Amino acid sequence: MSRNIESHLSEDREFKPSKDFARKARISSMAQYKRMHKESIEKPHLFWAREAKELDWSKKWDKVLEWNAPDAKWFVGGKLNVCENCVDRHAEGSRKNKAAIIWEGELGEKRTLTYQQLQKEVSRFANVLESQGIKSKDRVIIYMPMTPEASIAMLACARIGAVHSVIFGGFSADSIVDRLEDSQASAVITADGGYRRGKVVPLKENVDAALKKYKKCRTVIVHQRTGEKVSMKKGRDYWWHQETEKVSSIHKAKAFDSEHPLFILYTSGSTGKPKGILHTSGGYLTGTYSTCKYIFDMNDDDVYWCTADVGWITGHSYIVYGPLANGVTQVMYEGAPNYPDFGRFWKMIEEYGVTIFYTAPTAIRAFIKAGDQFPQKYDLSSLRLLGTVGEPINPEAWMWFHDKIGGGRCPIVDTWWQTETGAIMISPLPGCTPTKPGTATLPFFGVDAAIVDENGKECKANEGGRLVIRKPWPSMLRNIYRDKARFRKTYWSDYSGIYTAGDGARTDKKGNFWIVGRLDDVLNVSGHRLGTAEIESALVAHPTVAEAAVVGKPHEIKGQAVIAFVSLKAGIQGDSSLETELRNHVGKIIGSIAKPDEVHLSPMLPKTRSGKIMRRLLKEIVTTGNISGNITTLDDPTVIKQLIKTVTKKSKS
Ligand code: PRX
Repeated sequence: MSRNIESHLSEDREFKPSKDFARKARISSMAQYKRMHKESIEKPHLFWAREAKELDWSKKWDKVLEWNAPDAKWFVGGKLNVCENCVDRHAEGSRKNKAAIIWEGELGEKRTLTYQQLQKEVSRFANVLESQGIKSKDRVIIYMPMTPEASIAMLACARIGAVHSVIFGGFSADSIVDRLEDSQASAVITADGGYRRGKVVPLKENVDAALKKYKKCRTVIVHQRTGEKVSMKKGRDYWWHQETEKVSSIHKAKAFDSEHPLFILYTSGSTGKPKGILHTSGGYLTGTYSTCKYIFDMNDDDVYWCTADVGWITGHSYIVYGPLANGVTQVMYEGAPNYPDFGRFWKMIEEYGVTIFYTAPTAIRAFIKAGDQFPQKYDLSSLRLLGTVGEPINPEAWMWFHDKIGGGRCPIVDTWWQTETGAIMISPLPGCTPTKPGTATLPFFGVDAAIVDENGKECKANEGGRLVIRKPWPSMLRNIYRDKARFRKTYWSDYSGIYTAGDGARTDKKGNFWIVGRLDDVLNVSGHRLGTAEIESALVAHPTVAEAAVVGKPHEIKGQAVIAFVSLKAGIQGDSSLETELRNHVGKIIGSIAKPDEVHLSPMLPKTRSGKIMRRLLKEIVTTGNISGNITTLDDPTVIKQLIKTVTKKSKS
């Protein structure tokens, strides 16, 4: 019996960048990519030193890398200030009056901050933090809506050497307590509230509830966003606008060691306590700077928009640090993609002339489901490059994005990476890499990615296995905060000195990486290990299907049965004949081995707040008929009841 993951999807459509795009891009031929990639793997110190030199260092490093697996130190002995690199060096140069952030609130308010204005705001806030006694290496929780103040708070922490830990604004008070306790934070930066689908999210109230349980927080700074009445505890809680008025807009930044901790970001493991992923300064900034430059091919006349939330790693690396280090103009949006309707993103792209647009497959599927009439209403001709991140993109969603949003002319960079990797690891370079729907294509410079079997032997082309990274890279995580043992065990214990990503994948004959999904999402059907992502992609390729989630259920004979949950496109009514059609459709595309044993039609699927389908919950429902586990990260808990009803009704009938 094969213990490796099998892959049955094949994709023949290939798209090359246009000559015009290639001509203007930094990397414009595969020969150039291959030459640079080879050098970056054979002589990483040369490649990364060249990249790091484009940043401002107050003291140059003595050594590019010190590697005692799994402990890496990058740019050893170097000193820099991350915030100065993102803000001051543009504000004090020719970009001073260039827009850094063009912000739109959910209700339609607009604000633009130039690099010079951003420098003043960040400096004021750094002065406020220092006046509150917050020092280098102190941990500061940031729990804010998507306003420029969220970025300003992060940058101000970086400026004074404090370690920020951003908590996504959709998390509950209990999640805040866990993170406060684990990080032992001494301050919280929050807002009175934020807007989401027209409703107010009570952020300060959640912080108050959390601080009833965690007593070591000395300072809470509250940005006034909604004007809702909130309680302010004397001697602990301060208004952002009042405090910033008391201080100067000049703040002299100090340089910190390249390995100075920059932030902790909590990522939920599939079970158990969240992991506090620790990133440091010089290497992280070099990685995010360099990937933005080559993968998004950022230029001075670009208008870039990443639709993630600053509460996720994508927001850290590709809203705050990477784009600002490149001095680009970016759009930032506070609210939901479907507020007031599914045209919001397209309307904003038209209004601001967005040229580079980076979003998630889950959002794309929601747009497909809503219908083409929304993007059709707007002029999207300013776009030149599209990107996706977060999960494998179903080929049909890729094609829709390419045709309906990119007008068939924009390359798509499908970027594979993780909270732990800090920056993009596998992705096309838009001016040279031929793309195929569903693959993140080739490793970025300096990334030595491979697929290996359980003994660590490299798999052949088209043989499924585990995705590993064999060499250290600058933006890699340095630890799970205060838990070295868990860090070693989770990422470094499968193969000596090699990073295990926890994803199943294969490469094709051209070396393209196809991510099959998380290893814990792999099914074992009659001895075949099948990735749920492939079966889901096959389902989404059916014209009636908007979204699909596949899980396994114990099966006496096969080991696991394939159970599919499917939500249909707007206006389509499903019945049992459609269920049969979908089963046969998967059989046709992948093979009868992958044919779902059951298909459940469900208008909604359970998702985390970052849009990832929580297969763990579906698995529990199909196995036990109920949910006993933790559902605090679930976006909409009402989905559960409805799913249990659907599944139990079916098993009775
Ligand atoms: O399974 C992979 C999937 O998302 C995981 C990382 O999740 P997180 O740490 O939340 O970071 C998300 C944003 C970087 C990976 O292990 N993933 C991410 N991007 C892709 C992907 N799977 C396939 N293709 C991608 N482009």
